[in-house]
Amino acid sequence: MKRGKLIVFEGLDGSGKGTQIDLLVKEMKNQGRMVYQTAEPTSSSMGGMIRDALGGFVKRDAYELSAMFLADRIFHNVNPVNGIRQFLDKGIDVVCDRYYYSSFAYQGIDADLKWVMNMNLQCEEILKPDLCIFLDVDIDSCDERIEKNRLAREIYENKNTQLKIRRRFFEVLDMLSGIENIKVVNAARPIEAVSADIINLYNSIKE
Ligand code: TYD
Repeated sequence: MKRGKLIVFEGLDGSGKGTQIDLLVKEMKNQGRMVYQTAEPTSSSMGGMIRDALGGFVKRDAYELSAMFLADRIFHNVNPVNGIRQFLDKGIDVVCDRYYYSSFAYQGIDADLKWVMNMNLQCEEILKPDLCIFLDVDIDSCDERIEKNRLAREIYENKNTQLKIRRRFFEVLDMLSGIENIKVVNAARPIEAVSADIINLYNSIKE
């Protein structure tokens, strides 16, 4: 049996990942593929602790938060109930909203970037995606979408921080471009045009 593909979406808060993931998953199902849709942070107890930190209810050190995301990601890969690895082993594709690139861009601002990268990239339980799609939207458009769609802003959801995160994302994507399959998609276009590009990217890696 062929192994499933791991496809990861990245982008700033408000970049439209949710909408585009739903459209890709629908297309994959139309093509008769089996697909598991998932996200980080997960809904595990560690994921809950992370959400408390993101909401600003509990203050966490950047290194501590990096380690929490790491633990959540290992659980996300290996757990036998709904872990990524067992779906891929069964030939099921996995589409994930955020992955280790977010740790690099978000935690890599306050914690040492190399440390965060090494922890994730050198952990053999954490699988390398077959495709990472970065949805690129300018800061102002993301901020407008956050303002429209959120009841409250999380700790990273302010323009100044998002600007730093965006820079970090590009730095990291550049560093990894030779060893990972990363595609930047201009997501400041009509939803259908963005989706068509994403489907083409998926078609180019599926077997
Ligand atoms: P997001 O993906 O935007 O979903 P939601 O709709 O629940 O807000 O939120 C997840 C937040 O977690 C986002 O601000 C980025 C952050 N994050 C990190 O800081 N590091 C990580 O490793 C991951 C996976 C997410």
